[in-house]
Amino acid sequence: MNTLTAAEADILADPAAHRILTGDRPTGRLHLGHYFGTLHNRVRLQHLGVETFVLIADYQVLTDRDIADDLAGHVEELMLDYLAVGIDPQRSTIFTHSAVPALNQLLLPFLSLVSVAELGRNPTVKDEIAHSRQSSVSGLMFTYPVHQAADILFCKADLVPVGQDQLPHLELTRTIARRFNDRYGKLFPEPAAMLSAAPLLLGTDGTKMSKSRGNAVALAADADATARLLRGAKTDGERHITYDPAHRPEVSSLVLLTALCEDRDPVAVAAEIGGEGAAALKKRATEAVNEYLAPIRARRAQYAQDRGYLRQVLREGNERAIAIAEKTLSEVRAAMNHLC
Ligand code: TRP
Repeated sequence: MNTLTAAEADILADPAAHRILTGDRPTGRLHLGHYFGTLHNRVRLQHLGVETFVLIADYQVLTDRDIADDLAGHVEELMLDYLAVGIDPQRSTIFTHSAVPALNQLLLPFLSLVSVAELGRNPTVKDEIAHSRQSSVSGLMFTYPVHQAADILFCKADLVPVGQDQLPHLELTRTIARRFNDRYGKLFPEPAAMLSAAPLLLGTDGTKMSKSRGNAVALAADADATARLLRGAKTDGERHITYDPAHRPEVSSLVLLTALCEDRDPVAVAAEIGGEGAAALKKRATEAVNEYLAPIRARRAQYAQDRGYLRQVLREGNERAIAIAEKTLSEVRAAMNHLC
């Protein structure tokens, strides 16, 4: 997890030359999959000294549902998770889509740069449509990757830490940047994806870890709920514990989770547990997770007592994002020859 990628070596050489943007949909509390998949890495990148933007993608919640339930509550939960894991509002700008009109206005010119056929080929959108609970596909579901390009390009981010499923959106963002630059003159960087080096954690039922499946340990869960969830985790019939992700995905995911929390090698962790079996593995995983998350949970509880501070962080982040988005929009309008 701590290997330095080419992009990171580049960042270290000149942190001020880069800008990072990432984001999450405010649909519920973040869990261990988010933490080891991306949050941990975001905090690390932030500490390398790169200017970082963290977007709470509130308009994007409406892609696969009609109504964004308890949106304000989910935004607060997300802010608590961010602050608890160490995203620092002094170094990172936390903001919401809906507060930044100039970002949203970029959607219009950007839509003119892509074809309907291109949008229809996006594999992540196709997959989300297949799993959507809605009876029809909204225009937003079809076009949100273009909106996501506006998320990234409004602040001219050049690095985007994301998971594998976001790569088609990144490719589209690069296409939009390139076409805009070709048509109207160079304005945007072509941002690169930064894939996390951490291997994937499975949910306790052996399927993809997900907020909505009840198979994930939330960062905010307490020690007892964590123990209960991990005690019920799916394993297999083989007593001897090994680390073999290809053949024993459920057991290996528990071993990996333990190893990540203990900052150890998963093969060594599996060897230590060995013949003690699945119950011992689950016990060790529970202890490791609870110990690792204890300071994060304590910070989260502290921030939760000060909603005024949360609002202030968001207000200041939104103000910073608004100023940058307005500058970019005026550059776009000048490039497109709009009368000012
Ligand atoms: N689509 C991302 C997700 O579902 C969230 C997101 C919105 C995002 N805008 C972004 C991620 C811009 C990276 C960059 O997780």
